[in-house]
Amino acid sequence: MKIQTNFNLKNHNTFGINAVADRFVTMESPDDYEDLMRSGLLHDGPFLVLGAGSNVILPDHYHGTVVHPVHRNIRQIVVDRNCNFIEASAGTPWSFFVDYCIANEWYGLENLAGIPGTVGAAPVQNVGAYGIEAKDVIESVHYFDLLTGQQCWIKNDACQFGYRHSIFKTELANRVIVDRVRFHLAKGFTPQLGYKALAAAVDQRGVVAPTARQVADTVVALRNSKLPDPASIGSAGSFFKNPVVPSGKYHELRLQFPDVVAFPVGDGKEVKLAAGWLIEHCGWKGRSMGNVGVYDKQALVLVNRGGCTGSEVRQLAQAIINDVKNKFDVALDCEAIFV
Ligand code: EPU
Repeated sequence: MKIQTNFNLKNHNTFGINAVADRFVTMESPDDYEDLMRSGLLHDGPFLVLGAGSNVILPDHYHGTVVHPVHRNIRQIVVDRNCNFIEASAGTPWSFFVDYCIANEWYGLENLAGIPGTVGAAPVQNVGAYGIEAKDVIESVHYFDLLTGQQCWIKNDACQFGYRHSIFKTELANRVIVDRVRFHLAKGFTPQLGYKALAAAVDQRGVVAPTARQVADTVVALRNSKLPDPASIGSAGSFFKNPVVPSGKYHELRLQFPDVVAFPVGDGKEVKLAAGWLIEHCGWKGRSMGNVGVYDKQALVLVNRGGCTGSEVRQLAQAIINDVKNKFDVALDCEAIFV
């Protein structure tokens, strides 16, 4: 492992916030986890595990240790009659992993193509897009428990996966470091086109039986049409979660706002409102406050207009939360995490 002090994190968070950390520890091999635990560094103030930094809003100065896994590895574990078990290290870029699996004819990740971030972060927030979530393909997660010094495998059903949620955000937060994830991927490809916008985009391509690659390419094209390119515009992807409300509340809203956008969830007792629609209808789309703005193609995304700080992001997020509450009586929750 490599330890650097007073380390600038500007290139390690997709929002592009110019933050400095007391210590930055690069984890280059699986053996580094044992060394890190023995080093005592993690008992010297708080610590933060940072993959690609695609979902965090950093303060100007992080008074603690940032742990940055970069170890990459993808391997096939067992070939079952029905599926492939594939293991990937935490530092493997998610997008690379998805493409690698498609090229090897291991299926199930196509709808999650193009998501920024690393494999290690996927189970933490249960990344999801176009009708699929990481929980649908994760078999188990391996982590180092810094409290007990033990290494553990946790099975999917114990991970308490929910919408952008897992046990790694609650009981195991600030206590464990995920170092690899095991996936179960299908041997044959079945397109998953339940998300209407994806089905329509595949249809537009005029292919009757799309290949996995074609579905993944369509997903990437859809993402590119709505989300800013992290290489040129700083953002954290969706900044807010789509709020889940009782279906009664949705029907109430529809009386006043007949075109409010919502998707059914679970047994129909609740619906997920499109936060982008709520924010847009509060007039925020394309607007700015200081150096932070609301993206003009997708109101769910906050963007760095140049040199923004974490506290500016917090102020804009709070202003949006207040407006959505006042206009629709709906509580918005941040998906991005303020460190
Ligand atoms: N909409 C608006 N105005 C906007 C944005 C959206 O009216 O400015 C309405 C439109 O009707 C649109 C609908 O909301 O059809 C849904 O929009 P979109 O398909 O862009 O999806 P989303 O619900 O805004 C979620 C995820 C995204 C994921 C897409 C596709 C969350 C918080 N976000 O966004 O995830 O890519 O669905 O599945 O659940 C991320 O988490 O970083 C992320 C990008």
